[in-house]
Amino acid sequence: MDAAVSLIIPTYNERENIEPLLQRLGHVLSGLNYEVVFIDDNSSDGTAELVSSLADRYPVRVVVRKDKRGLASAVVDGLGQVSGDVIAVMDADLQHPPEVIPSLLNKIKNGADVAVASRYVPGGGCQGWSRTRRLISRGAILLAHLLLPGTRSVKDPMSGFFMFRRHAVAGVPLSPTGFKILLEILMVGRHRAVAEVPFIFVTRERGQSKLSARQQIDYLKHLASLMRRTGEMARFVKFALVGASGVGVNEGMYLLMTRVAGLVDSLDVLAVAIGIEISIITNFILNNYFTFSDRRRRGVKAFFSHLLRFNTVSLAGAGIQLGTFFILTRFIGFEEPYDILANLIGIAVAMMWNFLANNWWTWKPQRN
Ligand code: GDD
Ligand code: MN
Repeated sequence: MDAAVSLIIPTYNERENIEPLLQRLGHVLSGLNYEVVFIDDNSSDGTAELVSSLADRYPVRVVVRKDKRGLASAVVDGLGQVSGDVIAVMDADLQHPPEVIPSLLNKIKNGADVAVASRYVPGGGCQGWSRTRRLISRGAILLAHLLLPGTRSVKDPMSGFFMFRRHAVAGVPLSPTGFKILLEILMVGRHRAVAEVPFIFVTRERGQSKLSARQQIDYLKHLASLMRRTGEMARFVKFALVGASGVGVNEGMYLLMTRVAGLVDSLDVLAVAIGIEISIITNFILNNYFTFSDRRRRGVKAFFSHLLRFNTVSLAGAGIQLGTFFILTRFIGFEEPYDILANLIGIAVAMMWNFLANNWWTWKPQRN
C-alpha cells in the first residue's frame, strides 16, 4: 500500500539526531501510514548503519550515495524512492520540529499543492540567530524575490521544510545546485496554490551544521541557473538591447532637431531633453511589447500608468547614474582618464536599477 505521507530526509553525519527524530515523528504521525527515506551521502559517522538497524522499529529506509552531491540533489534522488502522493522534505537535525507536520498536512488537504513551513510569516522565526545571520537570510530572500518574480508570493522560499503533492514535481526536470530545493520546486514545479505555515527554526542541539561559504556561492549559481531556465535571463538581455536602442533614438533625435530642424544654438539643451523623453517612450513601448510582453496589461489606462511608472524609474536611474559618477570621481579618486570608466560604471549601476525596479514595480507580476 502506498504511504499516506512520505518523508524525504537528507543526511550527512547526523547519527546522533536519527533516533530522537524518529521518535518524535512516530508521535506526530501515529495512526498514519507513513514512510521515512533518508538519503545519505556516505556519512562517515555511521548514520546509514544506524538507520538500517532501526528499520524493524520504524518505517524507515536509507539510500546511500557513494559521493557527496549535496542536500538539494539528495532530495531529488529521494523523489524516485518514495511511494506517497503527499511528500514532505525536512532536515534530520531537529531544527525543523516534526510537530509542524500536521499543519502542513492540513494545508495540503485543504487544497494547497505546496505547503511551506515558513520562518517569515507571523508566528515564525529563528532561534538564536545573530543580527548578521538574519541579515544574510533576508538578503538572500530579497535577491530571489527580485530576480525570480515567481517566488515573490512566498515569504520563505529558502525554507528546507515543506510538503507537496507529487503532481507538483511529476515529470518536471529538477536540477538544483546547493541547498535550496524548495526554490527549485517553486520555480519549475507545477503548482497553483502555495500555502505557508509558521514555524520556529530552532537551534541545533547535536551534530554540526554543513552550511559554509560554499553554499552561499552555490546559491548564487542556482539563482543564475533558474534565471536561465525560466527565461528571466533572456528578459534581462532583451532589456539591455532595448536600452541600447534607446541610446540610438536619443542621439538621433538630437541630430534631427539641431541639424535638420535647425534649432538655434541656445535651444540645444531643449533638444537633449526632448531626446531623453522620446527615448524613454520608445524604450517603454519596446519593453512593453517585447521584454515584458507576458506581463503587459491591456487598455489605454494601463498603458499610460505603466508609462508613468517607467518614466519615474528612468529619471531615478538617471539620478543614480549621476550620483555614482559623482561619488567615483569626487570621493574614490577616478581621475582622468578613469572618468570614462566611472561613467560606464554609473551606466551599469543605473541599468541594474532600471531593470530591477521595472521588473518589481512597473511590470509587477499578477498574483496567481
Ligand atoms: N545527503 C546530504 N548531502 N545531506 C546533507 C548534505 C549533503 O551534502 N549537507 C547537509 N545535509 C543534510 C544535513 O545532514 C541536515 O539533515 C540537512 O541537510 C540540513 O543541513 P544543515 O547543515 O543542518 O543546514 P542548515 O541548518 O544550515 O540549513 C538548513 O536551514 C536553511 C535555512 O536557514 C537547510 O534546511 C536549508 O535548506 C535551509 O535553507
Ligand atoms: Mn541545520
